Amino acid sequence: MKSSTPWWKHGVIYQIYPRSFYDSNNDGVGDIKGITLKLEYLLWLGVDAIWLSPVNNSPMYDFGYDISDYYDIDPCYGTLNDFMELIEEAHKAGIKIIMDLVVNHTSHLHKWFAGSRSSKDNRRRDWYIWHEGVKGKAPNNWKSAFGGSAWEFDPHMGEYYLHSFLKEQPDLNWRNPDMRRSIHRMMRFWLDMGVDGFRLDVVNWFVKDDRFRNNPFTVKPFDPEKHKYDRNRPEVHEYIRELRNVVDEYDGRMTVGEVFTLPPGSPGLAASFLGNGNDELHLTFDFSIMYRLWSARRFYNCIKKWYKSLPENGWPCNVLSNHDQPRGRSRFMGGADSENRARVAAVFLLTLKGTPFLYYGEELGMKNALLSRSEIVDPLGRRYWPVYRGRDCSRTPMLWNSRNNAGFSNGRPWLPVDSDYKNINVRNQAGDRYSILNLYRNIIHIRKRHKALSEGKFVPVIKGANNVLAYFRIYGDEKFFIVLNFSSKEKKIHAGESGQWKVMFSTHRTEYEHFTSLNMVLAPYEASIIMKIGEL
Ligand code: NOJ
Repeated sequence: MKSSTPWWKHGVIYQIYPRSFYDSNNDGVGDIKGITLKLEYLLWLGVDAIWLSPVNNSPMYDFGYDISDYYDIDPCYGTLNDFMELIEEAHKAGIKIIMDLVVNHTSHLHKWFAGSRSSKDNRRRDWYIWHEGVKGKAPNNWKSAFGGSAWEFDPHMGEYYLHSFLKEQPDLNWRNPDMRRSIHRMMRFWLDMGVDGFRLDVVNWFVKDDRFRNNPFTVKPFDPEKHKYDRNRPEVHEYIRELRNVVDEYDGRMTVGEVFTLPPGSPGLAASFLGNGNDELHLTFDFSIMYRLWSARRFYNCIKKWYKSLPENGWPCNVLSNHDQPRGRSRFMGGADSENRARVAAVFLLTLKGTPFLYYGEELGMKNALLSRSEIVDPLGRRYWPVYRGRDCSRTPMLWNSRNNAGFSNGRPWLPVDSDYKNINVRNQAGDRYSILNLYRNIIHIRKRHKALSEGKFVPVIKGANNVLAYFRIYGDEKFFIVLNFSSKEKKIHAGESGQWKVMFSTHRTEYEHFTSLNMVLAPYEASIIMKIGEL
């Protein structure tokens, strides 16, 4: 069904970690041509847009989140031509392309940083954050998210530079207007090429306190600081509005911001980056659900807070997994029930109000891969092993079939292929109408036909009591009832609404089963999408 609302409100967005999607030249690393070759799959699945984790030139200290040239594509992923071809082919297939915009920091090998650290008179000197230090020590107590002080002493300059992540990722100085203009110019380069949007990496970290005040301490494991002065500075919003103006020079483009906070998440902060709903980012991620244990009530409370935080014209997006978190299915736990839980979660994600973001492999119910110390490449895992094993477990190659390396590559994959690939893969699941892959696909296609599911009003009915969640989605004369049993036990529900209803999708019921009321006995882990027929 055609919609007059922008695509990023009603579409489904699929995140690809390019190193791990499909390797077209068999060097063990996924690439852009590989993505182009798999567009047919994405079209079959029904996604409207893909967001690519960074593909720009990078020395890969943080696997692409350390960019050394914003205007080119890293050779390990292909060429600029490959990228243009991807845009063209994707657009032909009706699929939009969202790039990762990593502009809190660059790589230390970026020419901007080379200039900045070359001399105090360099025109880019102030594009990064330099400080002479205090009494021969780092300027303040700010910590890098990847461990240790956020300040690195540069012997050539005799000063410290700030890096919120690795020392190979110096932070840009967003207070510098020239620097910001360069970022805008670079954005226009990609927008002119046809890119449909940007995902903004750690957007809430861009601006730092201009007086470099010490952060207050708190009692929290891993991160004993309150990030009052190095993150979430209010000045950032002015710069986000500037950036929004750049994107608004083009029709139909969008931005989605990663508002990164540690558990428990911060819906209010995430929503603040939507501005008044029209003047900052189009969408932002609230990670609260990713930080919650499996429970209908906990999930509901997150959603409730998230929706409540939004500005009047703001639109939510929802996400259960990404390249920084353990795979959803593993996080939901449940042992032998983990796939059932992943199914319930999928129905939840795809029927909530808000744009759903899927993470590659989530649609297969991929689990965390078990990696040994020697297989770990993520700098975080290498630093904190075995206390924290890093993020590689959710970045392993996509599982395409049961052949060698799960059909990802004929070379040696950069990360091992999950050992369960003979069971969990696209090929097996595509042919099985009851697979989790077909669950995703069916619901995505039902969403496309019914605005109530993509754009409709959200009316909660059962808010987690008894580990059940149920809600209506309503648009015009369409009304859907979604019911999710988060527990391994049968549950009786009385949703108190009569009329004629039919099942549109269910993990347990046959499609087109009819009801005359919403009093039902739910099977363990049942997730059903039921549509009202006739008058509302
Ligand atoms: C957030 C990204 O999602 C993460 O993967 C990366 O390591 C940091 N930003 C630094 O860019």
